[in-house]
Amino acid sequence: MRAVQFSRFGGADVLETVEAATPKPGPGQVLVRMRAAGVNFAETLMRQNKYAVTPELPAIPGTEIAGTVESLGDGVSGVKLGSRVAVPIFATGSVLGGYADYAVADAGLLVPLPDTLSFEAAMALMIQGLTALYLVKHISPNGKTVLVSAAAGGVGSLLVQLAKRAGARTVIAAASTTDKLDFARLLGADKGVDYTKSGWVEEARAASGGAGPDIIYESAGGLVTKECLEALAPQGELVIYGALNIQGFEFGVPELIGIIFKNQSVTGFALPTLLTPEGLKSGLAELFDLTVRGELKVTIGGTYPLARAADAHRALEGRGTTGKLVLVP
Ligand SMILES: NC(=O)c1ccc[n+]([C@@H]2O[C@H](COP(=O)([O-])OP(=O)(O)OC[C@H]3O[C@@H](n4cnc5c(N)ncnc54)[C@H](OP(=O)(O)O)[C@@H]3O)[C@@H](O)[C@H]2O)c1
Repeated sequence: MRAVQFSRFGGADVLETVEAATPKPGPGQVLVRMRAAGVNFAETLMRQNKYAVTPELPAIPGTEIAGTVESLGDGVSGVKLGSRVAVPIFATGSVLGGYADYAVADAGLLVPLPDTLSFEAAMALMIQGLTALYLVKHISPNGKTVLVSAAAGGVGSLLVQLAKRAGARTVIAAASTTDKLDFARLLGADKGVDYTKSGWVEEARAASGGAGPDIIYESAGGLVTKECLEALAPQGELVIYGALNIQGFEFGVPELIGIIFKNQSVTGFALPTLLTPEGLKSGLAELFDLTVRGELKVTIGGTYPLARAADAHRALEGRGTTGKLVLVP
């Protein structure tokens, strides 16, 4: 089978397509033929060895695929050959193996896909969908004014919609271009601010009615995180779930004094520590159902042949994408 791997850390050029042995399903496992593999920002960080986990090399990135069941390992029953399934590799504790023609998975982890949900749409709902869903379930936006950073991205585009559905009074989208802000408004954001422009903190406060957003769901990192604290309302909550620019992050005495005197809180959020096998299945079932009923809009921002995974990484890092990027065979 073909697989995309990296044998050293570096830019997108280190991704190469190689011939690898097709994995064999062990007892209780199935072999799934990849029809779509999700691309996540975390994989661009891992490729540069800037992620929380350093993989052994060579490494095949990719933690989520959707496809059809190709063969069954010993002892597997109740799974039909050819059935359409999503494979949350991330739920096994692994962060590797998705950028390939085939992957094996424990039969108990497969999530059936509704007939009307495309393989690509399923990808948008896995890590990014669950992250957005869990964010609004764990830090409820009900009745509050919230700001979503990177609001046109994979997580952001779903978070805007789910925050609105979960009762947010006002959703303020933050992104780097007018097009991205327009896109976020189409998804339901009430207002938009360009957080790459000076003065955006005042704009965000004004958009919230004056005091600042009650909750900021933040993933941009660096200077933006610091500015988010300035924009946040007294007693507001800054929820940090990503740090695209973690190297540029500064958090010192002035920020701490601000937090103390404005009674603010800073909350960390990581999906894997919250996810149980039952929560994974019920969360995906909820996201799949909302999508097939047309109540959640999934945006596929780019579809790339597997062998062009490096282009997908370049696009994501180049900051020009909206929604989800997907690899296909
Ligand atoms: N905590 C968790 O469990 C969890 C789970 C999934 C994802 N995440 C995190 O969520 C964030 C979003 O992930 P995603 O896969 O959905 O990516 P994404 O949002 O689709 O893509 C990245 C977006 O981030 C913004 N950005 C800000 N600074 C950037 C920079 N220096 N370089 C590139 N982009 C930059 C860009 O939007 P603008 O141009 O509009 O700024 C860009 O489009 C990441 O930080 C990821 O690690 C966390």
